[in-house]
Amino acid sequence: MTRRLSLFLFVVFFILAAAAVMIRVVAAPSAGKSAAERLGIIHPTVVAHRGASYLAPEATAPAYILARELGADYIEMDVQRTSDGVLIAYHDDTFERTTDIAVRFPTRAKNPVADFSLAEVKSLDAGSWFNARYPDRARPSYKGLQILTFEEVVAIASAARKPIGLYIESKSPELYPGIEYDIVKIVSRRGWLDAKKVIFQSFSRESLDIFARSAPAIPRVYLIDEKMEKESGWGKLVRTAAEAGSGIGPVGYVAFPWNLGAAHRAGLIAHVYTVNASWQFSVLNFFGADGFFTDRCDLLMEYYGRRPDRAPGDILEKFKY
Ligand code: G3P
Ligand code: CA
Repeated sequence: MTRRLSLFLFVVFFILAAAAVMIRVVAAPSAGKSAAERLGIIHPTVVAHRGASYLAPEATAPAYILARELGADYIEMDVQRTSDGVLIAYHDDTFERTTDIAVRFPTRAKNPVADFSLAEVKSLDAGSWFNARYPDRARPSYKGLQILTFEEVVAIASAARKPIGLYIESKSPELYPGIEYDIVKIVSRRGWLDAKKVIFQSFSRESLDIFARSAPAIPRVYLIDEKMEKESGWGKLVRTAAEAGSGIGPVGYVAFPWNLGAAHRAGLIAHVYTVNASWQFSVLNFFGADGFFTDRCDLLMEYYGRRPDRAPGDILEKFKY
């Protein structure tokens, strides 16, 4: 190797090492860890987004049971309310994407979730879409799976061998006035309020404020999407998150080290959504993420060196899926 090449490589190495150190300083990851410890939240955190939703239909019993048995720290759910006042775990505004509503209720297929009673919701098949879309992960037992009530999801978590947490989102809360009180009532009745294993999350500052009034001791995470970041700017969002709760939940696209660092310096934890690939875990972990919402809790646990002791297929079979 010539002297010039050696010098060039040394300079490149030096610049890369300096950049790596700078990123870690900017991201202030130790402040995020301290914030999590203060809140009693496992760090780094594995949040099973709508359950183990890569391997089973999202927000159904096998998805949540699988996440629980794999050992995720939290199961995540989006809570909405039926026309007869029952809370259900469902993400979308309508049932079109993940159910057979087009067949069951053809004239109302595009109607919002809140337009359907619990009996109607329970009559939907929320599993067959998964088999059709992901034939490599399909299972006959997924056909006919029901949408779950929020209380049924809490019951699945309550049956855990190893403690698991509930990461509860008030979805479109402006459509469901008072849903926060309904959620707190169920969580409290089921004995979860004292357990230090509940986190509330919302894209709505107002909704987090209601959670704060109804269950002040429970941590609250302010969710951030790209549009919010563009419109408000990161600094303002961090200030809002700090006023409204104890954490920020940014979409991966805005989880830059300087953004996560600003959140950490404001005393917040930062859980990034929705991240499903190992290389993304590596990059965003380096950028200071305190944990991830992921469809692939199996993969994230492996990444964090907590490889599940049982294979997903064995778990699904044990529970007759
Ligand atoms: O709750 C974190 C993440 O789930 C927010 O996005 O749309 O999947 O609820 P979404
Ligand atoms: Ca969610």
